[in-house]
Amino acid sequence: MKILAIETSSDETAAAVTQGRKIISNVVFSQIDLHREYGGIYPFLAKREHEKKIDTVIKKALKNANTKIKNIDAVAVTFGGGLVIALEVGLRRAKDLAKKYGKPLIPVDHTEGHIYSVFAQGREGAPKRDFSFPFLALIVSGGTTKLIWVEGHLRYKIIGKTLDDATGEALDKAAKLMGMSYPGGPVIEELAKRGNPDFLKLPVPMQEAKDLNFSYSGLKTAFKRELEKMPDDQIAKNFHHLASSFQQVAFQHLINKLALALERKDFKYLVVGGGVSANKKLRLMIRQLLYKKSRSVYFPYKRELCTDNAAMIGIAGYFKYKKGVFIKNKFGRADRVARPELKMWMKILH
Ligand code: KG4
Repeated sequence: MKILAIETSSDETAAAVTQGRKIISNVVFSQIDLHREYGGIYPFLAKREHEKKIDTVIKKALKNANTKIKNIDAVAVTFGGGLVIALEVGLRRAKDLAKKYGKPLIPVDHTEGHIYSVFAQGREGAPKRDFSFPFLALIVSGGTTKLIWVEGHLRYKIIGKTLDDATGEALDKAAKLMGMSYPGGPVIEELAKRGNPDFLKLPVPMQEAKDLNFSYSGLKTAFKRELEKMPDDQIAKNFHHLASSFQQVAFQHLINKLALALERKDFKYLVVGGGVSANKKLRLMIRQLLYKKSRSVYFPYKRELCTDNAAMIGIAGYFKYKKGVFIKNKFGRADRVARPELKMWMKILH
């Protein structure tokens, strides 16, 4: 079954063709350069750029897959989790295509996509990675930080989430405080490689809390205060130490919560997705924790599957289709649709 997938929830205009778990094509147009001067994503600019690029990106995904829309079996699209005005661009296009060509439309939540990104395969069907439930998912991106208990396909329970900023957002803000450009995560990773993580004593968030939620606002404030105490030339001289100290504590917080989850839940493996899961230091810290507890972990098999992409939406869409969660091609009747929110979207876009 071939799916055309569309993703416009944030600052990437993306389209892909997938077949089951296999990625046939995956095209991402990143708007990062445009948002850089705003120090974060500027929603109106994101919407405008999605509108400019969406048709080209879809065409390219079909061309790279050597196929045509008439040979596609369904259209999957991100309908939730992200900037509403940006999501609307992809949803509208997906709905128009599904209607015009008489294809089923599969709604996919962005976080659901990040979970399934870990099970993506190349054209040859590798890596194999069988599903084995229940498993635990840690999704760490710029928009979300969540611990999700996955009991089966489409059977999720959120057991922990951020109470304020997401991990990626915290890294972006820390970088901005040091005068560095967006997105801060990769810049901090690079600088931190040469830095001393113990240079600054920063508080690991929620050390006493017994729940599985996350919080980064206290850490961000503590970091800001430390920077305010330092003369500019000292900040510039110690960039790599500052980056390393912040990154270390931000990730230690994730590790502490994972350790708590490990004590409480008996799962087959951990899957980690979202932009921050590209970070090598985080991967190492997670591997070290799980090794001690004799559990395994899967990350997306390619770096570009960590950050936003449409292939993950197509793969999640395939499992939703198999469970009958899609909208029939003529929009006469919504089958078991994931959320009431989608019905609202469909009315708005009609
Ligand atoms: O998943 P993603 O592309 O978009 C959202 O759904 O949010 O994640 C983007 C976030 C940004 O905050 C960015 O700074 C962070 O992921 N990020 C990283 C790395 N690459 C991207 N954070 C740490 N290390 C990286 N290598």
